[in-house]
Amino acid sequence: MKIDARELGQVAAVQPPRFDMYGAIHKAIRAFMADTLVAVGRMDADDAPETARTADRVMQLLDFCSSHLAHENGFVHAAIEARAPGASAAIAHDHEEHVHEIGQLAAAVAALGGAQGPQRHALAQALYRQLAQFVAANFQHMQVEETAHNAVLWTHYTDEELVRIHDALVASIPPEEMMVTARWLVPFLAPAERAGLLADIRAKAPAPAFEALLAVSRPHLTQAEDTKLARALSLP
Ligand SMILES: [Fe+2]
Repeated sequence: MKIDARELGQVAAVQPPRFDMYGAIHKAIRAFMADTLVAVGRMDADDAPETARTADRVMQLLDFCSSHLAHENGFVHAAIEARAPGASAAIAHDHEEHVHEIGQLAAAVAALGGAQGPQRHALAQALYRQLAQFVAANFQHMQVEETAHNAVLWTHYTDEELVRIHDALVASIPPEEMMVTARWLVPFLAPAERAGLLADIRAKAPAPAFEALLAVSRPHLTQAEDTKLARALSLP
């Protein structure tokens, strides 16, 4: 029996999408990485306070990346290995490389902080290129996780099981890290994703925690995005 492309499209349209535990957090990481990279690129290395602030942003990004890969190792890779032994090996190897590269980037930030005069320009340029390479590798790495790893997870787990794994991962994140996550995650979702996530959090979390999430993320929305969010959640 021959099925044409239109029929296939209709079949795909009625299949409910599977739970994607990488989707939202990887949007946050892409946003945080892109924002930090361009900040280093435009940094005035002759301006000591600006250089210190930008260096601090790079360190925050590196901390965030370290935590993220530890969460993935502890929860997602553990789940993959439990039902598909060996299936997370390539990405686990990437994670070991990322730990090494994070250490090298932290050393580059420290070198910039201790430099004087013209040397600062050379070190700022070196940091920019090194960070760009790290970002490029991470963008490719996240693509593999969102395709190959999700395919393994979707084959071996139900959505209910995946939601439980994801909830356990999120519950392990300390409040301070959660605020950094919210700052980079909520503003960089599409409006329907943002409203859905915040409605879910409002239903499950204490009111002050929900208010704190709004406070760190709403200032980074455009006027149009904020209006859509306020309408979707009946916010003031
Ligand atoms: Fe990863």
